Amino acid sequence: MIPTIIVHGGAKTITDDKIAANNVGCTAAVEAGWAVLISGGTAAEAVEAATRVLEADPTFNAGLGATLNSDGEVELDAAIMEGSLSWGAMAPPTPGANAAVQGIRHPISVARKIMDEKPRLLVARGGERFAVDCGAEMCKKEDLIAEEQWQQWKEDQEVIDRPNTIGCVALDASGVLAAGTSTGGTTKQQQGRVGDTAIVGCGLYADNKIGGCSTTGDGESIIPVVLAKTAIDFLTGDRHPDEAAQMAIDALASKVKGEAGCILIDRQGRVGWAYNSSHMACAYMTVGQDKVAAFTKK
Ligand code: GLY
Repeated sequence: MIPTIIVHGGAKTITDDKIAANNVGCTAAVEAGWAVLISGGTAAEAVEAATRVLEADPTFNAGLGATLNSDGEVELDAAIMEGSLSWGAMAPPTPGANAAVQGIRHPISVARKIMDEKPRLLVARGGERFAVDCGAEMCKKEDLIAEEQWQQWKEDQEVIDRPNTIGCVALDASGVLAAGTSTGGTTKQQQGRVGDTAIVGCGLYADNKIGGCSTTGDGESIIPVVLAKTAIDFLTGDRHPDEAAQMAIDALASKVKGEAGCILIDRQGRVGWAYNSSHMACAYMTVGQDKVAAFTKK
């Protein structure tokens, strides 16, 4: 099988001053995941490695620098799914004064650990306790707030290019597909809100027989159309992932009039992506490319 990896940095509006940061961040994420794939690592390991890079980069709405909720807190959701149809997800809001003194730097890594557990979806304090128990990198919740997001929240500025969710899909040499997604949700979202990102079929999906998908956009639009699974279903009949991705976004736009994007890899290692926002940061790498291809517009 041909190892392949694709990441997205969110369907959003990218102002001119942020184009370079989006390209650099997505390229670095692909390089991290690609290094895992070409050294014989699994698709899930590659997705985790790439997603961790995006979570650590305040350019993106995930991990450090995620958008802030109604209470001025970072609440993170992340999920990962392997094409074997095992799946794990976490959505650890840090509500009010409860266990909110602690944060999780890389929720994608905790989601990956949950893949081997039951229950499969842990939220709020339960997710945080699990993260502590499994030795995840914890921090003060304030440590995940970036200056720019704090200023926007405090001054109630219009947020132009902040959301949306980041994600990754990878195919490894043994033919296993994995998809991952990570987010801070929507700006000033109600404390405790959980969007599509942690919900299998909506924020992500992977099936080794067909393909893998990670989505980005407004959860309230993505959830009703089960966007990731819808995109995977459009891959049947060997349809090219670019066409399948576009069909999924068209279906969302016609049914719920939302803004979203998605990335796909099919079982042959072909990549596709589509969005109906102004921009979507995206980068990919496969055998035969001499360097990562990175874009903010198609
Ligand atoms: N796609 C991220 C969210 O709606 O929470």
